[in-house]
Amino acid sequence: MLICVPNILSKPDVAEFRRIMDDCAWEDGRSTAGAQSALVKRNEQLPPDGEFARKLGKRIISALTANPRFLAAAVPLHIFPPLFNRYTAADGHRFGVHVDNAVRGDRLTGLRIRTDLSVTLFLSEPDEYDGGELVIEDTYGSHEIKLPAGDLVLYPASSLHLVTPVTRGARVASFFWLQSMVRDAHARSLIFDLDTAIQALAERLGRDDSETVKLTGIYHNLIRCWAEL
Ligand code: NI
Repeated sequence: MLICVPNILSKPDVAEFRRIMDDCAWEDGRSTAGAQSALVKRNEQLPPDGEFARKLGKRIISALTANPRFLAAAVPLHIFPPLFNRYTAADGHRFGVHVDNAVRGDRLTGLRIRTDLSVTLFLSEPDEYDGGELVIEDTYGSHEIKLPAGDLVLYPASSLHLVTPVTRGARVASFFWLQSMVRDAHARSLIFDLDTAIQALAERLGRDDSETVKLTGIYHNLIRCWAEL
């Protein structure tokens, strides 16, 4: 399941991120690629252990953990420190079809996670570049994703995906992985659908409506059944 979450970062926050990133030294994106990915990955990224990547990454994690739609979709247990990449037309950047590694370890914190979900947070507006679509394959076919700056997409880390060549301008994004408390993708999808329906009912009937409270109880009992902590 692909889930888009709008407005993780405000436009002024995005502008500030971009100003800071423009002044940073970038390195070859292959430094964090697995053996198979390294063959098809052509982009740049901020040094993952660098001061700026860490500072901006912490701001993203604060924004994520305050966002109800993100929390409902991901049910996150561990979020990997966000990384930042850039694809420019001048350098013919692209990232061919690949899957993400099942486990990621962070050198600085020692955190090791199972990558249940991959996340791309767009930091360029769609009109700033041509190409650069994130293409994700799932059971319903292939989806091209290009979101406004400040929005993100969550998708199963196991899915085949790629970034098409950027042919004009530059595409800047943050990307990272997370381990969900709910490992099974179908269970996670059911929890998200139930949560979304409960929020809509609460809006219509009020938070104290007794049937809505009962459904909320069912939601929490499903989490009790499925959460791995
Ligand atoms: Ni990937």
